[in-house]
Amino acid sequence: MIYMAQQSEHTIRAFKGKSFLPALTVYDYPMTRLLDELGIPLLLVGDSLGMVVLGYPDTTHVTMEEMLHHVRAAARAKPRGFLVADMPFKSYQNPEQAVTHAIQLKAAGAKGVKLEGGQEVAPQIQAILQSGIPCVGHLGMLPQRVVEEGGYRIKGRSEQEKASLLENAELLAKLGVCALVLELVQSDLAREITHRVSIPTIGIGSGDDCDGQILVTQDLIGGFPWFRPKFVTPVMESASLLQKSVDAWRSEQSERYRKAFSPSPTVVYHRT
Ligand code: KIV
Repeated sequence: MIYMAQQSEHTIRAFKGKSFLPALTVYDYPMTRLLDELGIPLLLVGDSLGMVVLGYPDTTHVTMEEMLHHVRAAARAKPRGFLVADMPFKSYQNPEQAVTHAIQLKAAGAKGVKLEGGQEVAPQIQAILQSGIPCVGHLGMLPQRVVEEGGYRIKGRSEQEKASLLENAELLAKLGVCALVLELVQSDLAREITHRVSIPTIGIGSGDDCDGQILVTQDLIGGFPWFRPKFVTPVMESASLLQKSVDAWRSEQSERYRKAFSPSPTVVYHRT
């Protein structure tokens, strides 16, 4: 167990230029507690929940009720890490709705919320920050737009996309988000954004030059073998380890059963 002081939006900001900021997703009590005991400073109840836990095809199906349920479970671990909750699809269509839902996520135990998008969600971010709830930004490939955009692809290859990402990153930093997730952003651009903004950037599939990195924990531990993002190298194969271990248990138990219940050897009587 690694001792870590209670993390907040301020301690997260303080990673900038000082040390690497590791971040991982959590969806329940044991995973939150385990990763918190390791001293992971930012724990995200991501809406990737939809795919890796709830079996949806993408994040657009995750409801506010489902997010609240999983944020409560994660919060019961009382993490020292900064517990951030994703605001689910269509839960922040205007500033009032965004504040109402951010307050509900906070009441469920989140210490901050994450929203996808740039200037188009600036009024929502401002309103949430004004209500006293810290925000994390998310730019690049926005999973909540995957249906609309028809797939996952690297962002920032064209000059136009590059300019818009830079502008949005600076805007979000100016608005006051405490960290910025950069998902599938072309790596040179991710490096440039990291140099330009005063808050930590947290990359996912955006190269090595961000202030921190975030992964879906199931991808990191090989817990969801049916889909693997190309940029992840799992540190273990937990799904096949689970299947192998359960299979070994079943064989052992079947063998024990066979021995216990097989007909007793025929007793042969000899005349003396
Ligand atoms: O939902 C999620 O898990 C995310 C990522 C940044 C990992 O938003």
